[in-house]
Amino acid sequence: MLRGITQRTSRATDADAPPPQPALKTLRRLFRYLGPYKWRMAGTVGLYMLCVAIAQMYPFIDRMLIDQHIAVKRIDGEFYLLVLVAVILHAINYAAFAARTLSIVRISQRVLFDICRQLFHHIERLSFNFFESWPVGKIMARFQSDVTTLNDFLTNQVASIFHDAMSAVVVIAFMLLIDAGLAVVALCTLPALAGAALYLRPRMHAGWEAVREYATRFNIFLAENIAGMRVIQAFVRQQVNFNQFRVTNALVVERWMKVITLSAWLGPIVEMTRAFGLAAVLYVAAHQIGATSTLTVGTLVAFAAYINALWGPISTFTNSYIVLQATLASAEKVFDLLDTQPVVRDAPDAIAMPRVKGEIVFDHVWFSYDGARMALKDINLRIPPGQLAALVGQTGSGKTTIASLVSRFYDVTQGRILIDGIDIRAVTQESLRRQQIAVVLQEPFIFTDTIANNIRYGRPTAGMDEIIAAARLANCHEFIDKLPEGYNTLAHERGSQFSVGQRQLMSIARAILADTPILILDEATSAVDTETEQLIQQALERLMAGRTSIVIAHRLSTIRKADQIVVLREGQIVEIGDHQTLASKADGYYARLVRAQMMGEH
Ligand SMILES: Nc1ncnc2c1ncn2[C@@H]1O[C@H](COP(=O)(O)OP(=O)(O)OP(=O)(O)O)[C@@H](O)[C@H]1O
Ligand SMILES: [Mg+2]
Repeated sequence: MLRGITQRTSRATDADAPPPQPALKTLRRLFRYLGPYKWRMAGTVGLYMLCVAIAQMYPFIDRMLIDQHIAVKRIDGEFYLLVLVAVILHAINYAAFAARTLSIVRISQRVLFDICRQLFHHIERLSFNFFESWPVGKIMARFQSDVTTLNDFLTNQVASIFHDAMSAVVVIAFMLLIDAGLAVVALCTLPALAGAALYLRPRMHAGWEAVREYATRFNIFLAENIAGMRVIQAFVRQQVNFNQFRVTNALVVERWMKVITLSAWLGPIVEMTRAFGLAAVLYVAAHQIGATSTLTVGTLVAFAAYINALWGPISTFTNSYIVLQATLASAEKVFDLLDTQPVVRDAPDAIAMPRVKGEIVFDHVWFSYDGARMALKDINLRIPPGQLAALVGQTGSGKTTIASLVSRFYDVTQGRILIDGIDIRAVTQESLRRQQIAVVLQEPFIFTDTIANNIRYGRPTAGMDEIIAAARLANCHEFIDKLPEGYNTLAHERGSQFSVGQRQLMSIARAILADTPILILDEATSAVDTETEQLIQQALERLMAGRTSIVIAHRLSTIRKADQIVVLREGQIVEIGDHQTLASKADGYYARLVRAQMMGEH
């Protein structure tokens, strides 16, 4: 009865979900995924029909065998022919069954592929703020359990629903053909079943919603705990987290049991209607046999077989109905994600930005992440092409924010940012970022791939000689070359086998190879040894040569060379100028910073 539901693992929901879509609309949208495969689906349904038609012949043949041969002891050539026909029909039935199973699996895999592809393509286009508000675990829940539910419904259940509907129609036709009066008696219990299904529908839907909600929380918890396992172990939080895990897990099981219990009611109701239908038929037949001559024992046997044959599909149809409720809840979540629009969007008339010289202007820029608190307040800044601007300031003062705005990872709240005099909102994001801006993030990210591929990330066509040249400039060639597999060494997830300094050098090589007129560098604060620091310093200088650079620097040696130093405090520029000017302001933030670092060095 609950086949196909109990096997499924977690699924997910968001607390901030919009009101549910009408079921029919969701269903129609869901069916569009079958569009490209409609002919294959039609072929599969054809095979189903063949199986149904053949299966319904059996009682018919049995009836002929009983009434015309066995009951009257006529074992002749026609009897053997009927037996032969029955055997051949069985053979065809099984062959068709195998063919349709294969066909369904093929469609199923393609649909799954399509939905996942669409989802991934979509989230790749979403803006930074989406990834800040959606935990990884929640996104994964959409990809795994929700998509799997949709796929199961679209392929297995849809084909099965066709099959069930077809079987039901054929069986009812045969029943009417044999004895219309008895057929009506047999079917009189169906409205009760329909009533029960309608009553349970909203309750099951709500139940599945709850399952999803708690399963998502479970997923989020799991993803975060695995990612943060080093911190968990370092602070010996295993037992505390394990207890939290148990609660999260138990809540999912509890919701799951609730909805399954609800759905389980439909099973007995189906069986009761079958039993009552059969009883009603037997009651009426008992009065008719003997009284009229038309009703034979063979007919009654065939009729009983048809009643069973009718309730088979009704029972599986009920199962599909339960799966449908789960599917609708999942589909709403998936469509919700697909309907989430990126906040940063290309203007309809956006042009491709030509390769720039690299003048960057912040013109009265205000910016807020949450719409409430301003992270940047009235920033005015001009960096001429090829010059270096260093951003300094306390933690949280807005340095990374300024860097993110240049690449248009967020849109300014007020004011504008111009590159070579062009408002960056007037050009496509792709043309703005590709070939114009290279970014070295505060936390360098290395992907699970070879070192070579990690370095050529911004220019996949780069040859091996170019990669090595970039690595040499970035001072990381030496250590890469010493690895047993050199540039073909496979980095673990996030490059965890490399030190932070090594990762930083590799991401500098990546930026060098990208060879863009603009460079944004969010220097990591992490302390590295003096030797590495010098390597990084040297690499940076080579990288910045001839490019417009915005560098968030913590090392005085980098900052000192800047054409302008921008001192930020609480989102505002409080000092701006070159090293000489700022260092001479005795009570300035920069002068204090210089003094502090000098003391640290001595
Ligand atoms: N994604 C975000 N969502 C909401 N607020 C944010 C976000 N990122 C930063 N902020 C807030 O904006 C302010 C500026 O943050 P920003 O990351 O620009 O600081 P920073 O100067 O780079 O600091 P650090 O030196 O520590 O890297 C901070 O108050 C921070 O809390
Ligand atoms: Mg920062």
